[in-house]
Amino acid sequence: MITIAIAKGRMQESALALLARAGICLSDGVNSRRLALVDETKQYRFIFVKPADVPVYVEHGIADCGIVGRDVLLESEADLLLPLDLGIARCRIVVAAGDATAMTNVQGMMRVATKYAQIARAHFGARGIPVEIIQLSGSVELGPALGLADVIVDLVETGVTLRENGLTVVEEIAESTGRLVVNRASYQLKSDEVGRLVKVLEAVVKS
Ligand code: PRP
Repeated sequence: MITIAIAKGRMQESALALLARAGICLSDGVNSRRLALVDETKQYRFIFVKPADVPVYVEHGIADCGIVGRDVLLESEADLLLPLDLGIARCRIVVAAGDATAMTNVQGMMRVATKYAQIARAHFGARGIPVEIIQLSGSVELGPALGLADVIVDLVETGVTLRENGLTVVEEIAESTGRLVVNRASYQLKSDEVGRLVKVLEAVVKS
């Protein structure tokens, strides 16, 4: 049996739908609060963890594989193999603000509220723009309206959250999709099982 860590939240539903299309089905417990489940064939054990914890479980070999967004991987320093872009939960990482001129009208150092400190630091650093990063855990869209920050760096999927909070996209940083990640040792030691998983998922992604 191999263990697959699934990012809870926006990724979970599309990951389980993709796995079902690949013939890997969880019959019981998907709608329960159980955090570990086994598939119908008992070949796969699933653990459901916070997105940022998926790389941790996989790097430490507690999970052999994981399904997690690229946004999370860009923030993580975990040493993982990334054999497959699953193309699910597609979204963009953007800079957003109250209006398009927000970045040019800042007095002093620009304040950036975000859950994505590494991505934001790298983005503005590469452009030589000094910024103060204000690390938040969520509801980042409140930052500019409440005067906490000049701009935010956050995920946009439908754009509804930005719109409903009076924000607009100023710059695109990167696209994010769900990725299959694999522990380096599992890739060698469980090559048959991991190889089979990669193959069935690849077939579904390409279909
Ligand atoms: C993300 C992101 C935005 C929202 C964007 O939050 O941080 O708030 O989704 O989605 P939309 O463009 O479809 O409106 P998430 O739900 O992942 O949780 P969070 O509130 O913890 O950031």
